[in-house]
Amino acid sequence: MTTTPSPRTASRADGAPSALRESAARLDADDALAHLRDRFLLPEGVVHLDGNSLGPLPAAVPPALTDAVTRQWGTDLIGSWNTNGWWEAPLRVGDAVGALIGAAPGQTVAGDSTSVQLYTALSAAAALRPDRPLLVTDPGHFPTDRYLADAVAGQRGLQVRRVPPHDLAAFLGAEGHRVAVVSYSPVDFRTGELYDMEALTRAAHDAGALVLWDLCHAAGALPLRVDDLGVDLAVGCGYKFLSGGPGAPAYLYAARRHHAALETPLTGWNGHADPFGLSRDYTPAPGISRARIGTPPVLSLLALEAALTAFDGVDLTRVRAKSLSLTSFFLRCADELLTPLGFTPVTPADPDRRASQVALSHPHAHGLVRALAERGVLADMRAPDLLRFGVNALYTSHRDVLTAAAHLRDIAREGAYDPTPPAAGTVT
Ligand SMILES: Cc1ncc(COP(=O)(O)O)c(C=O)c1O
Repeated sequence: MTTTPSPRTASRADGAPSALRESAARLDADDALAHLRDRFLLPEGVVHLDGNSLGPLPAAVPPALTDAVTRQWGTDLIGSWNTNGWWEAPLRVGDAVGALIGAAPGQTVAGDSTSVQLYTALSAAAALRPDRPLLVTDPGHFPTDRYLADAVAGQRGLQVRRVPPHDLAAFLGAEGHRVAVVSYSPVDFRTGELYDMEALTRAAHDAGALVLWDLCHAAGALPLRVDDLGVDLAVGCGYKFLSGGPGAPAYLYAARRHHAALETPLTGWNGHADPFGLSRDYTPAPGISRARIGTPPVLSLLALEAALTAFDGVDLTRVRAKSLSLTSFFLRCADELLTPLGFTPVTPADPDRRASQVALSHPHAHGLVRALAERGVLADMRAPDLLRFGVNALYTSHRDVLTAAAHLRDIAREGAYDPTPPAAGTVT
């Protein structure tokens, strides 16, 4: 999350060294995905490098929401649950997300928040491996993943082991037979490091454990193959690279082979085998429908559904290739313009280990990100000292990247930022 830019002035690439300008122009001229930028409503004078936090507004969303509100809700009223497909929306939108993460239809449900879906997935995993006492998570995992690992372990009588992904193989060599589930993200949300999902999934399975992936920073940014890799469970949010809007519904993927035994902890009536039978006792629905909980957030689901059409006809391997080109170019700009001014790139230079963001450390990250926003460049920071720049290949150009780096160089060189650290509770 970040501050509102005002006034907006982003274009600053003109002041950058000519070699960088020429490279940006050449790379943008060769960009086969450039036309996809028109699928987003990006304000003039803004460079949006915060789509790994909140994606911008896709052009398909306003008309879809207008229709949902005025025609569906306003005119068709409650009949819309049947006539406008509201009831099926969690499964329909789940399948649309599934297509982006490599899941065949019928295994993904959309709704609730990532935190709720994590709770469901962790609890279900523990129930699927009742004889194993350990829950493995990453000490560097996003806070909600760590908190929920502790909560579920407490409720289910498990012990949490915090094992960095790079140490998983060694850990499993000693303790693997005791591990119920390995709960990781393929992307370090701070540094943008990309882990090897395939190798980590295989290592967990070789030990007889399940694997749960948090795909928040991966879905929509790179090709994913949850079915092919044999992933057991996955969750993710709808508001980052999927651009589904603030608080967009999250999703849960559960591999079909687990459905019959999938025990969900929140047995709401929408997950009942016969929700409108209003029976006294809970009987789970067959398939992924049992992971539904309560009445879904229909307007948000329809916004997310419309947002996902930005990916129509888009090959995610090309998105990945462009994303790597953008982050490589960012690292080059950082090297030439920013490291001499005290910035240190912490994102791996190795493209196989880099997701779709660049993070730079600087002791005054907060003030610098705010100053950037005032010049129309949206990025964010993660305490204590990281500036994060997310690139979404659907709408980001190499010129955008150069503009951001050139503004940051000017701000740092001029000392044109407030070095005061953020007050507790500030949204960063
Ligand atoms: C990896 C990861 N998981 C979960 C979340 C957030 O969870 P929720 O959508 O419940 O706020 C984030 C938010 O940035 C995240 O980066």
